[in-house]
Amino acid sequence: MASQTTPETQAGAASGAGPADIIVVEDLWKTYDMGSEQQVHALQGISLRIARGEYVAIMGPSGSGKSTLMNLIGCLDTPSKGKYWLNGHLVSELNDDELARIRNKEIGFVFQTFNLLARATALHNVELPLIYNGTPAEERDQRARGALDSVGLSERMMHKPNELSGGQRQRVAVARALVNNPSIILADEPTGNLDSKTGVEIMALFDQLHSRGNTIVLVTHEADIAEYAHRVVHIRDGRIFSDQPSSRGRHS
Ligand SMILES: Nc1ncnc2c1ncn2[C@@H]1O[C@H](COP(=O)(O)OP(=O)(O)OP(=O)(O)O)[C@@H](O)[C@H]1O
Ligand SMILES: [Mg+2]
Repeated sequence: MASQTTPETQAGAASGAGPADIIVVEDLWKTYDMGSEQQVHALQGISLRIARGEYVAIMGPSGSGKSTLMNLIGCLDTPSKGKYWLNGHLVSELNDDELARIRNKEIGFVFQTFNLLARATALHNVELPLIYNGTPAEERDQRARGALDSVGLSERMMHKPNELSGGQRQRVAVARALVNNPSIILADEPTGNLDSKTGVEIMALFDQLHSRGNTIVLVTHEADIAEYAHRVVHIRDGRIFSDQPSSRGRHS
């Protein structure tokens, strides 16, 4: 690995970070250049620490920078300025291979629109991340079946996305996010396309993952969904507006 430097030594021990912090973001900026001198300042100096095992909801109005922040945390994009330590590794110092490896190992992504391959079965969709990282076929099959089982879809493995309900599709997406046993689950509006009852089922699944020790970061603009998390971070205009325990977090 290019860097084993911990955020504590880099960012200063006075800030109170412990080795338990799995996500450390410091003064993160993201500017999109739109040509002809037009710029969008999507993130304007976000600093955030998330400890291993935390369950955090990110809220904010449309366009406030929530997805931009999630994409940076998920290493799907790079910041214009600022630092990001993922499990103690300074992400900007990792080469492409190291980045792919750490992303695969640490992070599972769940999106609002499920992002499943339309022509592939549930089983094949869940196997995809394992195909990308070169897992042998037999192990791939076993692990994908196990992940689908864990989200209650053992009966639907051979169905394609259009043969599944919205909630079942999202469960396939959650199984795909879990198949590499990542420590962090990033979910961007995972209930956004679901009716409220199905949304509650997906949130119950996240509760299970959290109780198994996973770190969960969830974007939502529904207050009742955010209440599943233990901490709620509000973003406005690319900046953190508030960062507080949810009522669940206060009572746990
Ligand atoms: N690829 C891009 N190129 C240019 N501008 C972008 C790009 N992606 C996002 N933006 C802009 O950056 C700002 C933040 O967008 P982002 O998608 O992070 O918002 P969001 O909080 O996720 O909103 P929503 O709740 O609608 O999903 C918006 O003004 C958006 O138009
Ligand atoms: Mg968004």
